[in-house]
Amino acid sequence: MLAKIIDGKAIAAEINAETAEMVKVLTAKGKLPGLAVVLVGEDPASQVYVKNKIKACAAVGIRSEMYHLPAESSTEEVLALIAKLNADPAVDGILVQSPPPPQVDEAKVILAIDPDKDVDCFSERNVGRLLIGQQKGFMPCTPWGVMELLRRSGNDPKGKHAVVIGRSNIVGKPMAALLLQKAAGANATVTVVHSGTPDIRRFTRDADILVAAIGKPNFVSGDMVKPGAVVIDVGINRVVDPATGKGRLCGDVNFAEAAEVASAITPVPGGVGPMTIAGLMRNAAVAGEMHLK
Ligand code: GUN
Repeated sequence: MLAKIIDGKAIAAEINAETAEMVKVLTAKGKLPGLAVVLVGEDPASQVYVKNKIKACAAVGIRSEMYHLPAESSTEEVLALIAKLNADPAVDGILVQSPPPPQVDEAKVILAIDPDKDVDCFSERNVGRLLIGQQKGFMPCTPWGVMELLRRSGNDPKGKHAVVIGRSNIVGKPMAALLLQKAAGANATVTVVHSGTPDIRRFTRDADILVAAIGKPNFVSGDMVKPGAVVIDVGINRVVDPATGKGRLCGDVNFAEAAEVASAITPVPGGVGPMTIAGLMRNAAVAGEMHLK
């Protein structure tokens, strides 16, 4: 194996220690940051993510509240809860775990969250601010985590060709916006490829930084990676290992193949995953700061 492993767990721990310090200062000023986590339904993966988010809050000193609504909840029922949380001064941040069940209008729910409590950075206002280059305030958790992985592993995107695979609102689009930022730690030339792109390999082969966020296990093979590239794997896919018959986690990148070609690579698990939560904790602390009177 050629590539250096970028240890997301260690880097996330570093960031969480910084966030805990921020929370300590806020708490001393009388503002204990509070995060409300809303889960609708019984999706097993979402249940794990939400549990990890609640645990992370406790670890950095953020107060958390968990709301678990039944799978058959209507959009109006979710909106009623959001209205209550918007009005509660002890709640600084609100997160609705995505995706909710299909009968819930997620776009409507996201729009209902007070933009000053939008710790996912999903609202029109916060996405707009991101696109016009705002450096402060809420950052999209996973893309921000990727930028911190690059920065703290000594891989400056400046002047590099970054290729993002995937165009979701949660990862692909905000990821491209952050890499493109005219700012220290960014300044990349950015290409976004997606399911409508013929010959994705043509672009990925030219990527100095390759970010895979498409949700397809082992999509990126070794021959799609430019020798010496930095490969960031955002994918978290559950697959059954044919050797053991057991479920395991697998990224969007064929790790064994890509690690032979890349100069640095993130593992799954232990790469981007812990960084998403670190980003969320940071945003919750920022929310507390915003509501400091
Ligand atoms: N589902 C997958 N990633 C995320 C995230 O970052 N935030 C929320 N709310 N739901 C998600």
